[in-house]
Amino acid sequence: MQRRLLITGGAGFIGSNFVHHWCETYPSDRVVVLDALTYAGNRATLNDLDSHDNFRFVQGDICDRPMVDQLLAEEQINTVAHFAAESHVDRSILGPDAFIRTNVVGTFTLLEAFRHHWTGRGQLESDRFLHVSTDEVYGSLEADDPAFSETTPYAPNSPYSASKAGSDHLARAYFHTYGMPTLVTNCSNNYGPYHFPEKLIPLMCINILLGKPLPVYGDGQNIRDWLYVKDHCTALDVVIHKGQTGETYNVGGNNEVKNIDLVHMLCDLMDDLAPNLPVRPSRQLITFVKDRAGHDRRYAIDANKIKTQLGWTPSVTVDEGLRQTIEWFLSHEEWWQPLLSEDYQAYYQKVYA
Ligand code: NAD
Ligand code: TYD
Repeated sequence: MQRRLLITGGAGFIGSNFVHHWCETYPSDRVVVLDALTYAGNRATLNDLDSHDNFRFVQGDICDRPMVDQLLAEEQINTVAHFAAESHVDRSILGPDAFIRTNVVGTFTLLEAFRHHWTGRGQLESDRFLHVSTDEVYGSLEADDPAFSETTPYAPNSPYSASKAGSDHLARAYFHTYGMPTLVTNCSNNYGPYHFPEKLIPLMCINILLGKPLPVYGDGQNIRDWLYVKDHCTALDVVIHKGQTGETYNVGGNNEVKNIDLVHMLCDLMDDLAPNLPVRPSRQLITFVKDRAGHDRRYAIDANKIKTQLGWTPSVTVDEGLRQTIEWFLSHEEWWQPLLSEDYQAYYQKVYA
């Protein structure tokens, strides 16, 4: 069967990796990207796909119901992969409004639009609505707690994670109430190509290249569970093709690392791979700064369900993935340099001044 996908947020970090993955793996499927091109969206990331026959980019807002209705109908969409979101915890602390609007109202708008479209199509069982979410909905773990499983109660702590939790509940409710074929994935922290440089890994890489301080929040002992973005894409692919509707799947690489250890790894890899660093060794640039408000201590994912039920496993270790990511940033300065705009500098001042 030909999948006809609407990929929301396809010009962002994970969405664009997923669009590339899908177009390369299934060239005869239709791929329509809907993205508002906020500060986090970058049209240039998808430029190489403009010559692909089955690819179309539409700039638009997921909250715009008439536009979404029209797109679903004219493209005869049978699969939605929903990535569009406000995704940065620090921005959600500075201004939560956009998070509620896009993550909650936007997801609701898409679910409603797809419900009417799916009903009009005869409620086909093969249709899919994949809602891409985060492990942050489960809250924070203590050092000895077991990793998050699909049955861990939700306990979001930031406006970002609370808004994602709300959208997860809506996706679940549309399956239980209307029988709509929704699926939810909750993934740990991603890293890799096309990562916007205000998140930890790209920010550190670029600051090392520029010889700027490396701001580590608090004591640097917070733990994140890192997954290479291309492995996340293969997990989402398997969930669309083999997942059971109404289910949620946790996705993670079993790579728990303390922030300070991760920054050390990045510094050492950069010292190895980057020829002309302004400051070497890069570890000299590490600066401990004021902690993030409500900073979750530890995230860890138990990905046993997707492994045993759907046969997915990650392909890349964190060492290999970080090396590939650094090599990508070193060879794609033309991608990240324009992102360090006045807006970016203003944001940076607000968070780090
Ligand atoms: P991102 O911020 O890089 O990209 C978000 C994209 O959504 C951007 O292209 C932006 O322009 C678009 N967008 C924002 N508001 C929109 C709107 N109203 N209408 C249409 N498009 C809009 O985010 P990301 O890191 O790629 O995350 C994608 C999804 O994966 C999010 O739902 C996020 O919660 C989830 N997730 C992210 C991570 C991570 O580590 N980055 C981990 C797990 C889950
Ligand atoms: P981030 O990439 O923002 O992802 P999330 O908050 O969704 O986990 O941050 C990852 C971790 O790195 C998190 O514990 C906060 C920390 N961090 C810093 O120490 N310094 C920074 O400049 C940034 C952006 C994050």
